[in-house]
Parts: sequence; C-alpha cells; structure tokens
Amino acid sequence: SRPKVWVSQPLFDDIVERLHAHFDVVRVPDVSEHDASAIANALREADGALVTLNERIGSDAIADAPKLRAIANVGVGYNNLDIDALQARDIVATNTPDVLTETTADFGFALMMAAARRVTEAERHLRAGQWHGWNFKGLLGADLHGSTLGILGMGRIGQGIAKRASGFDMRVIYHNRSRLPADVEREFNASYVDFGTLLAQADHLILVLPYSAASHHIVDAAALAKMKPTATLTNIARGGIVDEAALADALSSGRLASAALDVFEGEPTVDPRLLAQGNIVLTPHIGSGSLATRRAMVALAVDNLIAALGAGPDAGHPSSVIAPAADDGKAAK
Ligand code: GLV
Ligand code: GLV
Repeated sequence: SRPKVWVSQPLFDDIVERLHAHFDVVRVPDVSEHDASAIANALREADGALVTLNERIGSDAIADAPKLRAIANVGVGYNNLDIDALQARDIVATNTPDVLTETTADFGFALMMAAARRVTEAERHLRAGQWHGWNFKGLLGADLHGSTLGILGMGRIGQGIAKRASGFDMRVIYHNRSRLPADVEREFNASYVDFGTLLAQADHLILVLPYSAASHHIVDAAALAKMKPTATLTNIARGGIVDEAALADALSSGRLASAALDVFEGEPTVDPRLLAQGNIVLTPHIGSGSLATRRAMVALAVDNLIAALGAGPDAGHPSSVIAPAADDGKAAK
C-alpha cells in the first residue's frame, strides 16, 4: 500500500495535490489548533507529515507513530520541532529556507519603518476621527535614513535587511553567535559588535535570530534598559526572544520609543499589556506572507517530503534537511 502522509493545515490545494501522486494524503479542511493528542493521533498511521509552526512535534507526538519517517516543516524556523527526539527516531526533518528570505526582509523593513514613523498609530488616530487639521508637532517619529540599524542575528534574513539598509544610508551594526567572514561584512557594509554595544548604539534594533534556549528572553528588562530611549525594537523572529512584560513596561514608561512585533510568545494570544500600548505595531505573524513566497514555501516543503520519503526525482535528497544534523556539527540554519 502507498505511504500515508498528513497535511496539518490547509495550504495551497494545487501544490499539495502533487503529494497525491505518491501517497495517501490526509488533509484538514480548516485552519486548526491541533493539541498534542490530535497530533499524536494524526501521526499514528503516517509515514510522513507536512506541518507548520502551529504544530509542536515532540517525543510525545511521535511515541506511537512507528512508521513515521519524515516531517516537512513549512517555515524556516523550526523551534516547533524537537530535533533531538526526531533524530533519535531517525526521522528526517526539513524546513524552507531561502525561498522566504527577501520577502521576510521586506516585511522587517516595513515593520521597522511603521514603528519609527508611527504609521499604524497615526492611522488609528485618523480612523478615530481625531484628525482636526495638520498638526505640526503631532505624531512625530524618528528617521531611518542616517540612523544606526542594529541587527541581532545575521543569517540570510539579517543580511537581506542589511542590504536594504544601505539604500537608506543607515550605518549597520550586528551581533551574531559567530562573526561573519570579513568579505561578507564588507559586502553588507556591516560591523560586528558585542550584544551590549548593539543595544546601546542601535537607533533601530531588529531581531532576526533563531529561537532556542539560548535566545529565550534575550531581550529582557536589562537589555531594554541599555537601549536608547528614542530607539525602536522590531521582532520578526520568534516571540519568546523578547520578555513581553518587560517590553510593555519599557513602552509605557517611555523607556523605549516604539516597537513592532510580528511574533508573540503565546501566539495567537497577544499579551493584553502589549495590546494596551499605543506606540506598538502588532501584526499576526505575516513576515513571509506574500502570495508568491507562501506558495514557494509550500512547494519546497512538498518537494522535501516527497524526496525524504524516497519518491520523486530527488528521492533520498531533500534540499533543506535540519535533521539528521550535518556531521560537521554545524546547525543547518
Ligand atoms: C516563519 O516564521 C518561519 O519560520 O518561516
Ligand atoms: C534564518 O533564520 C535565516 O535568516 O534565513
């Protein structure tokens, strides 16, 4: 009988259709919040699955899934997957890097500009009927051009943001677990600094690093206290990188000028203390959300799943494998 695969969310039917040539496919009709037992049930008979960051796949989810051989994550970040647990079971895991880099960098810039120039706050003001003539000193923001951009996490998306910043005449500083080679620093006109210097010097700080135990709440009250009170903070990575309570305090006390968040620690729930702030732009995790890019992500994940399960032209060679980890000890990301 043909291998069985589970597709955890409605994606693009015309692309997901390609799975049907190789597998028996179980799909869900509506966007769903699958809890741990629903995921375990869905995986019980499955040989593979196409999942999104909504689905947490840990040892409990795969404990009773003896046939499971591959998980294709539709997304570049994969903190929803317990890589060690998958590796221990020889389950191949893949993600979707590269195809979303430029789109996500575009959106990071959009959010940062919106925070700096108070775009959504100004729109709320207008829609609320509070615009009573051109207010020369109202809703004043901060410039991007000529300012210092701090990038925390200098992977592909961070580099895409640095590239854009040069067109805005921004000075680019970055911090990363490992420093980039000198020629890459030159290409992006970016200078490496330690984390404290990044916080202290950035007029606009953007977070583009993977979420892990090491980056959990790395932007906490102590970090925020090092930032300029005129600075903006933008997060397009994962919510858990920022201590949201500390951020809400910093915004309400004027310790930080403004923020923009596309990701939240408890998403889709948004901390009411953040919702209560005016000087914050809030979007529902749409960083990679252009139509073309979301389609490309699904296409890549489908190709990866077909290859990982040993079918199709790339049988045995999915293009972006995150588990098993490469034996040089470097993370794939
Ligand atoms: C989205 O957040 C992704 O990781 O692709
Ligand atoms: C991954 O986080 C990337 O920057 O592509």
